[in-house]
Amino acid sequence: MTKDWTKDSWRKKPIVQVPDYDDQKLVKDVEGRLSTYPPLVFAGEARNLKEDLAKVCRGEAFLLQGGDCAESFAEHLPDNIRDTFRVILQMAIVLTFGAGRPVVKVGRMAGQFAKPRSSSIEKQGDIELPSYRGDIINDIEFDKSVRNPDPERQIMAYRQAASTLNLLRAFAQGGYANLDHVHQWNLDFVKESKQGEQYEALAERISESLNFMNAVGINSTTTAKLRSVDFYTSHESLLLGYEESLTRLDSTSDDWYDTSAHMLWIGDRTRQPDGAHIEFVRGIKNPIGLKCGPSLDPEELIRLIDIINPDNEEGRLTLITRFGENNVEKHLPSLIKRVKSEGRNVVWSCDPMHGNTITSSTGYKTRPLDKIINEVKDFIGVHNSEGTYAGGIHVEMTGQNVTECTGGTQKISEEDLADRYHTHCDPRLNANQSLDLAFLISEKLKEIRS
Ligand code: PEP
Ligand code: CO
Repeated sequence: MTKDWTKDSWRKKPIVQVPDYDDQKLVKDVEGRLSTYPPLVFAGEARNLKEDLAKVCRGEAFLLQGGDCAESFAEHLPDNIRDTFRVILQMAIVLTFGAGRPVVKVGRMAGQFAKPRSSSIEKQGDIELPSYRGDIINDIEFDKSVRNPDPERQIMAYRQAASTLNLLRAFAQGGYANLDHVHQWNLDFVKESKQGEQYEALAERISESLNFMNAVGINSTTTAKLRSVDFYTSHESLLLGYEESLTRLDSTSDDWYDTSAHMLWIGDRTRQPDGAHIEFVRGIKNPIGLKCGPSLDPEELIRLIDIINPDNEEGRLTLITRFGENNVEKHLPSLIKRVKSEGRNVVWSCDPMHGNTITSSTGYKTRPLDKIINEVKDFIGVHNSEGTYAGGIHVEMTGQNVTECTGGTQKISEEDLADRYHTHCDPRLNANQSLDLAFLISEKLKEIRS
């Protein structure tokens, strides 16, 4: 049991990025209800993920974490869940080939609702309203009646997470993810593209291998690994009252787990060593992610590692670096050197999205795919020079054919962004761009292996 920690000890610490709820009594009431609801994940599953991440930590597997920047109530459609899931499967196939290792699949799904914001107020004309903080807190529409934080939305988020997770479990275990269907995961609008063809060629090689294995008696009926996948969920641990309500004592281990997701991460804006968010995650046993932006120095990183992973356990902590194109070589080597010299066990993952957000000339928040690709290339390159393992990527993506990030083989321009710009927060890679990125990483990893 973690020393001097209780699931509500974060309440005594300074906190940032909290919604300003008018009705505190209602907040308490909602949290009380949530704390009686069934857990969304089982502690044993979070331990399995930790084991899988321990393999990544040792260089024996690769981590793929991806999904929406912010899930929304309005877009809770089965096709959206299915399409994101299947693009993740496709990316995983591509990466497995490149890395020559199993790929640990973690969705930013089934609970990724709360958003940190750079300003707590949004101004349009003469009107000032609270900023949108994600559907679990308020509504994106710029109208006073729905922008005020409403605690009841936490109940809606919980129910949506439960239903998304239910479908993901069905897809992962019920036959959809069976490797025999590797061709069918190619989405119609992707099929016609260069990435679609490249994927098709890979799928063909897999089919041939499966035919061969079938001939020697190994197939999806005899081998569970061929007919299902382990798919885990994650989100930012931001709205701590919600997270506390879903934190339960696991009777098999006598440890505390946040049962809202398998993995939780701490955002770049809420990683103050003395702050509430770090206090909360230090006591839960789920695998933890920590976003590492340009303002994090090696000294502070070690302090954070001391707090989050005092026993230096493999798989406990994933450092998700996000510096922006052209900043990786400036910031990453010193962090790696320090972590290495202190012998700390961490997974190194790269979020090439959050340091590369720009505003287009047409007024949209966007991310050029080239910048994203350059950050990943530099991430892999620096790890290669330092002799450490570039263990994973963390991306904002969707299976939908959106136009939110520019570039890629579809050559999405700033003028095209208006066509299908649907995100509730940051711009996501579409299915084609996600596959583009996966092929690029796969080639880089293959180069390094040889
Ligand atoms: C996010 O992952 O959506 C996010 C807000 O990232 P960061 O904390 O790295 O800015
Ligand atoms: Co984001």
